Amino acid sequence: MVEHPFSFAISPALTLTDVAERKIIRRVSDLRRYFADTESLESMIKDGDPVAYEVLDIPRPEREGELISGLSILYPGLVGAEYFMTKGHFHAVRGTSELYYCLAGSGLLLMENEQGEWKTEALTPGRVVYVAPGWAHRSVNTGTDERLITFFVYPANAGHDYLTIEQRGFRKRVVNDNGTPRLVDGGADSQSVVSRLVGTPGSNQAPEKSELKTQ
Ligand code: 6PG
Ligand code: NI
Repeated sequence: MVEHPFSFAISPALTLTDVAERKIIRRVSDLRRYFADTESLESMIKDGDPVAYEVLDIPRPEREGELISGLSILYPGLVGAEYFMTKGHFHAVRGTSELYYCLAGSGLLLMENEQGEWKTEALTPGRVVYVAPGWAHRSVNTGTDERLITFFVYPANAGHDYLTIEQRGFRKRVVNDNGTPRLVDGGADSQSVVSRLVGTPGSNQAPEKSELKTQ
């Protein structure tokens, strides 16, 4: 790799294609263990398995002193009542942080640490979110028809720990409650809460407000 400075442009219209060498595409089927409503998920997979998000980045040697930057492009959509979201992860090196800069769309960054604290920050164009060391992070697109596009930068030696989140999930889930994003508990009963928020076809069941929690 050439060890020289370089520059690039970012904008919602320009997707880093001039410099990005890596493109990751995640379809709904790649997120099987992440969404609560497994029935809706399986029927979406049968109906064409849409792309949930793409990540474009500029690879750098994975060593201290280097930075990896790129774009995360999260499509709008719902699995049951749950908005499209990224897998989410801790950095394997817990002491590393990350910056997100929102270019387009609307959503939030859901974060939690291993001490049991959680936090959400809004992602709207122009906003920057600083993910402090030790905080797992997941982007959620709460928009109805726009892609959520963020530019991210993190230390190249950070690494990814996906397993912790894949196995136990985030403490909170973000669901669409009649058009309004709501946070609900992500525990063992979350599947029933998420299903109830969608309602069963023809039942017109209203969500039980007592089960909804906002920050
Ligand atoms: C990272 C960044 C970011 C992230 C994407 C997709 O550390 O790599 O947080 O680029 O990878 O937003 O999210 P997932 O990696 O959780 O699927
Ligand atoms: Ni990260």
